[in-house]
Amino acid sequence: MSLFEKKSLERILAESEDSKHHLKRTLGPFNLVALGIGAIIGAGLFSLTGIAAADHAGPAVVLSFVVAAIGCAFAGMCYSEFSTMIPIAGSAYTYAYATMGELLAWIIGWDLVLEYAVGAATVSVSWSSYVAKLFHMYGIELPPSLIHCPWDTTPGLINLPAVLVVLGISTLLIVGISESARVNAVIVVLKVTIVIIVISIGFGLVHPENYKPFIPPNTGTFGEFGISGIMRAAAVIFFAYIGFDAVSTAAQEARKPQRDMPIGIIGSLVVCTILYILFARVLTGMVPYRTFHGDASPAATVITLFPYKWLQLSIVTGIIAGYTSVILVMLLGQSRVFYSMSRDGLLPALFSDIHAKFQTPYRCNLIFMVFVSLFSGFLPISSLGHMTSIGTLLAFVIVCVGVIVMRKTNPHAPRPYRTPLVPLVPILGVLVCLAMMVSLDLITWARLIVWLAIGLLVYFGYGRAHSHLRRDKAAGR
Ligand code: ALA
Repeated sequence: MSLFEKKSLERILAESEDSKHHLKRTLGPFNLVALGIGAIIGAGLFSLTGIAAADHAGPAVVLSFVVAAIGCAFAGMCYSEFSTMIPIAGSAYTYAYATMGELLAWIIGWDLVLEYAVGAATVSVSWSSYVAKLFHMYGIELPPSLIHCPWDTTPGLINLPAVLVVLGISTLLIVGISESARVNAVIVVLKVTIVIIVISIGFGLVHPENYKPFIPPNTGTFGEFGISGIMRAAAVIFFAYIGFDAVSTAAQEARKPQRDMPIGIIGSLVVCTILYILFARVLTGMVPYRTFHGDASPAATVITLFPYKWLQLSIVTGIIAGYTSVILVMLLGQSRVFYSMSRDGLLPALFSDIHAKFQTPYRCNLIFMVFVSLFSGFLPISSLGHMTSIGTLLAFVIVCVGVIVMRKTNPHAPRPYRTPLVPLVPILGVLVCLAMMVSLDLITWARLIVWLAIGLLVYFGYGRAHSHLRRDKAAGR
């Protein structure tokens, strides 16, 4: 049987019908947009905007937000087509299994660890930075050795708060507090309110001279200012948009997936793009962009210029609370993807073992709790963020290609939502995402390649021999 054996659409849909856990269809368009925003607004905006401006793009970081949004819009349309066609939980992994076969599905599933598990670690490091700022505002200094990893600008021993938040949220997932739509709605309102407050108060505190030069000249190093800097910054802050694809994992719970999935995906992207551009414009206007060098909590830095201490404290507290939904969605997404891969036999069954009482894939959650907390305790935010971006960009590229392949292989399958102008839109999606990927540094590429190589070893050492699809085909089923 070939490495590119595909799972048929019929088989995928039948397996989901078979599943004992029928998810209820309760989510409408508003819930889906809120789900997207809950997963999207987080460390990318509140931490990486400052670093991207200081080290890569200067005030032109607003253009980087536009570039990244364009890439996401193209990919978002492709995700919408798949999520209405295959409205089940495995997301990009399942889409690849149906279009490009088992090997690519494996690669994308393995790659999604970078988006979800490493992404969760990135957000937890940013969370820790805001927690330290909050204590500082109350006059308490947390010991630097316990809030920095050994590779930070200020080296420390371990980033303890980041580890603790991962442990806490993983425990919630194990006991089965999945995100209820109502809690999520509260967090979304909180986050959007904070962003709007920062934009509107900050607007009055902008010094236009901070915008000059808008695009600082290139320093002679690729990715530091100039056009290459704008592209590098786009790849870095691309992280801020990650999460809209999480809406596609809720397709099984949508009341009218055909109409509402595109609304949820594209709608949350549009809202976030507008907020991000305004936020970045205000941040870089309030203080010189260089101020943000090595600063993982730039919003806390600029709001020290705001009037009223209570307002400052509320904003930082709100940001800290708002991060929880992002970390939760990412850890949940991680366990869903590994759960699907394990159900297909590509990973050992322990990843889909369900706890008798809590009804959650607890072993999978426990394993990732250990890994993600190690990442968050001992790695700096920029390396983690870059790895998340490159991994997700690769997933987007594969999904865009998948739409073109699926139009050829299953031209008549029902497509409640059709990506416009195929193959133009998916091709543009591939090009914009690839352009961001090549703008990242070599070390990030080297890490991606090593990670994928390890994945191939696992596939050829385990997954290939245990695949249920192969087993059934061999038995003529
Ligand atoms: N987009 C999410 C964030 O910025 C991952 O935290």
